[in-house]
Formats: sequence, structure tokens, C-alpha cells
Amino acid sequence: MNVKYLGHSVVLIESKGKRLIIDPFISGNPQSPISVKELPKIDYVVVTHGHGDHVGDTVEIAKRDSAIVISNFELCNYLQSKGVQTHPMHIGGAFTFDIGRIKLTPAFHGSSISEGDQIIYAGMPAGVLIDSDGKKVYHAGDTGLTVEMQLLKDEQVDIAFLPIGGNFVMDERDAIRAVKFILPKKVVPIHYNTWDIIKADVEYFKNEVEKIGVQCVVMKGGDTLEI
Ligand code: NI
Ligand code: MN
Repeated sequence: MNVKYLGHSVVLIESKGKRLIIDPFISGNPQSPISVKELPKIDYVVVTHGHGDHVGDTVEIAKRDSAIVISNFELCNYLQSKGVQTHPMHIGGAFTFDIGRIKLTPAFHGSSISEGDQIIYAGMPAGVLIDSDGKKVYHAGDTGLTVEMQLLKDEQVDIAFLPIGGNFVMDERDAIRAVKFILPKKVVPIHYNTWDIIKADVEYFKNEVEKIGVQCVVMKGGDTLEI
């Protein structure tokens, strides 16, 4: 399995000859080294919640590549109305796709879409657990620290993408507590330093995570990892 980070919360996974992208906020993402045009053909788009820095270019990518969008039921309804093919799921539910088994996990956050003067309900925010080719990837989406993360310890996660930028999500300190709950093999910090309001001390995070005995990989937009 190959994992590519495209900055902010964007993670591109290649596994079993398929490509899945999580939260494809590429246009307007100062950390993305590529444009949507340069993105290879995508088979699945996972959207954790309705905020613009996560839905991002979902509609454009899904239409261009006839990709299936996987998200919560309400957000799928909204995206279907924009003409994309979806697979609705919900928190705690799992489904096996040809790329692997995908499960939505709890996240404590908001989820809505602003369109003109309308605010559209976009369902419960989620994280995602992907089990593909013998590897497990956890992407927390946008969330504060939750006790539910303790349940992920049993999953023996290979790589966990955790937000550390604070203000809207966990800060470094709470993300370190999340690492203690999950005990993945590797952690990659995400959702920080995109803007000043989510500035984080990534060196502090890395040092504290490695004290726990977990490897912390600080990825820049465009970096890849073979797991
Ligand atoms: Ni959000
Ligand atoms: Mn966000």
C-alpha cells in the first residue's frame, strides 16, 4: 500500500490497483503541491464531513473519474444532488469495497455546508478506518479527543492520520493522548499550519509521540510512504 499526503487533511491511498482519496481539498489548499488536473484517476473519494476544507474538489473529481463518493448518508444525499455517484454509510457501519473494508468512526465536530444564504445539514462528522491488503489506515477527520478512540487499539492500526492544529480539532497535547489510546505503528500529524489559526508545534508532537514508542512521520504535501 502506498500513501501520499497532499497537505491539510488530504490523503491519497493506492492499494490493490485502486486509488482512494480522503478529504480532497486541493484547489485553494496552500499545502497541496498539485492541482486537481494533476491528480491521477481516482476510484473512491471518502469525505469525513461537510466543511469546505474537506469536501473540497469532491464533485469535480467524482464527475471526472466516475469515482464513488463514500460518506455519511446526509452528505451523500447532498452530493448526489450535485450529480455524483455515492455509497452512503454511517458511524460504526462498515462495507467491503474492492479496495478493502471501510468503516466510519465517531468524530466530535460539526458538519454543514453553506450555500448562498442557506446552511445545509451534512450529517454526523466521521473518521474512517480502512482495511486493505493486510494494512489498516485510520484517518480521524476533524475531531476533538474522544474516548471512542480507545476502541481503535484493538484494531492494531498501521498508520494513523491525526489532526493536531487545535482550535477546531485536537491540539498537539490532545493528539498525543489520542496516540496513547490508539497505539498505532505510525502516526502522521495533519490539519495544522495550513492557516495561522491552526498553527501547531509539530516537533513537540513528534518528540512526545516517540516517547510513547510510536513512530511519528512528519509528511509534507507531496510526500509518500510505503506501508
Ligand atoms: Ni471541519
Ligand atoms: Mn477542517
